[in-house]
Amino acid sequence: MDIFINTFLSEFVFKRKDLLLDLGAPTAEYLTKRINKIQDLDRSVWAHVSDLMRRINPTESGYVNNNGVLETLVDQALAEKSEDLIELLKNLIPWRKGPWRINGIDIDAEWRSNIKYQELNTVLPYLKNSSILDIGGGNGYYSFRAVLDGAASAICLDPSEKFLYQFELFQKFACAPSVHFELAGLEDVASMGFEADVVLCMGILYHHRDPLGVLSSCSAGLKPGGLLVLESMTIDDDRSICLFPEDRYAMARNVYFLPSTTAMVSLCKRAGYQDVDVISDRPTTLDEQRTTEWMPFKSLKEFLDPDDIKKTVEGYPAPKRTIVVCKKRG
Ligand SMILES: C[S@@+](CC[C@H](N)C(=O)[O-])C[C@H]1O[C@@H](n2cnc3c(N)ncnc32)[C@H](O)[C@@H]1O
Repeated sequence: MDIFINTFLSEFVFKRKDLLLDLGAPTAEYLTKRINKIQDLDRSVWAHVSDLMRRINPTESGYVNNNGVLETLVDQALAEKSEDLIELLKNLIPWRKGPWRINGIDIDAEWRSNIKYQELNTVLPYLKNSSILDIGGGNGYYSFRAVLDGAASAICLDPSEKFLYQFELFQKFACAPSVHFELAGLEDVASMGFEADVVLCMGILYHHRDPLGVLSSCSAGLKPGGLLVLESMTIDDDRSICLFPEDRYAMARNVYFLPSTTAMVSLCKRAGYQDVDVISDRPTTLDEQRTTEWMPFKSLKEFLDPDDIKKTVEGYPAPKRTIVVCKKRG
């Protein structure tokens, strides 16, 4: 790991114990790819962000869940001189997932991720003392929550550099050594050599062209008998069918297959999982996904037909969301 010593990242990415190397057996190919990606963060586009990150050095550490808000302990000296922190937080807009309170500053993200997390109630007992791999985990909200709920470790896997920085900023204050971020995607899971007790794959399925391939990648990150928590936008239909939007869905270009709940169950079964169970099935509300000060762009309200919010602007059924849990064969 000495190769990073001269990069700004050595100050905050590698000072924590590297869970991946501890818990997994990544291939040499993956480690090379990882080094290249991380070194790539030294680009000038991130120079200001990394400079601000370096200037923020809390002496207090720790975090709590305060009614769904992930909140760090307050470092009073930093709170009294918080210009750098505010500038950094603004540089990291848009904040898609949250809510957070970082050193007393509220970050009201586009998504109230605490609402989705609450839907995981029935799987919380499985998180205890477990290793978690949160594939496409965004800025790590669920990983930090899972460790507070007793998970032994959590790796948030996401290819977004901005989410890496959001994660690392919270982590600077939280100092949670068993929560880790991997700058990687679903396609890297097999070469990470990490077999988790629980894989979270939420909000990912419909963004990919090959839904069965997504389920295989999840399986590659699970130990035999491990639990997959699969969450997706779904359509309301009793048949085992998928909606394949002709072009955009709710203004998004990268939405491919939206399964019905029945089709989601069928997908899990045909991908070889067992004990498939639907634990949540509900519409997305305007209260859960919305424009905020920290995500000032268009959000769900603008994606729906103003005359009939049961439809998207393209005339498709408005999004609902389903969570399915299932087991990898032992
Ligand atoms: C709709 S968000 C879901 C975030 C979070 N899992 C949740 O449920 O709130 C999709 C996430 O997938 C990430 N992503 C994009 N490409 C990916 C890939 N190839 N593999 C895994 N995640 C990816 C994005 O950066 C983003 O954080």
